[in-house]
Amino acid sequence: MTISISCRGLGKTYHSRSGDVRALEPVDLEVKPGEFLVLIGPSGCGKTTLMRIIGGLQSASEGTLKLTTGPDGRDTVGFVFQQSNLLPWMTIEDNVALPLRLRHIGKQERRERAVELCNKVGLAGFERRWPRELSGGMQQRAAIARALADDPALLLMDEPFGALDALTRTRLNSELERLWMASGATVVLVTHSISEAVMLADRIVVMSARPGRIRSITQVPFERPRPVSLEGTAEFQAIASELRAQLDQTA
Ligand SMILES: Nc1ncnc2c1ncn2[C@@H]1O[C@H](COP(=O)(O)OP(=O)(O)OP(=O)(O)O)[C@@H](O)[C@H]1O
Ligand SMILES: [Mg+2]
Repeated sequence: MTISISCRGLGKTYHSRSGDVRALEPVDLEVKPGEFLVLIGPSGCGKTTLMRIIGGLQSASEGTLKLTTGPDGRDTVGFVFQQSNLLPWMTIEDNVALPLRLRHIGKQERRERAVELCNKVGLAGFERRWPRELSGGMQQRAAIARALADDPALLLMDEPFGALDALTRTRLNSELERLWMASGATVVLVTHSISEAVMLADRIVVMSARPGRIRSITQVPFERPRPVSLEGTAEFQAIASELRAQLDQTA
């Protein structure tokens, strides 16, 4: 139930009336099946661009992208963006079940699956609420539940917790790790938070300022599940400060 990603010389130039913008220099990157990969880098360095190309939302200007499915052939992709993008006229349950409705799955099964997913992300009891009745963190959880509805083999998350307070963010990081471990999906996550990157990633890709290129790749050695207290350890802080130094040099 998982996908590997191979990027070879993936580059992007945006063409607009006011001129061309070189967003991404050729990127070579391999993501292993079931890996949790995190992208960090200064604003405008092409993280969202790379993510959108990997997810097929956008084409590359050059290079090749190869997604290889596992033995079961599953190729579904789930997206979570910075804003939850819930549809305001649908209940949480209907929002979460939307990918299933698009696949013409029956009402009863959709409902059961939505309830199960809401339960997984800690939203049990909120199925019949409207998005506006939920806090920002709860809306992001609903967005994660919706992204998981299709049992994605690949989960692409672009600053999913950017708008949240530190406490909620830490809690959701742990929940996300748990869900990812249970699902076996391959994850690519973009964040501006170094501690979030170190807490979640198998590997961290640091990108340099625009036009983006890969500056370094760091393997994160900690066992899973990773306790919140890990952040206080010297090993964690050593990796975090090395990343911070790299980012300072790229800005
Ligand atoms: N549709 C577009 N047309 C023209 N230029 C674009 C377009 N989308 C992005 N860009 C440019 O491409 C570059 C990379 O943008 P991208 O959104 O990928 O950066 P990012 O790393 O995700 O930044 P942030 O951290 O601020 O989200 C930026 O300089 C941006 O101005
Ligand atoms: Mg972005």
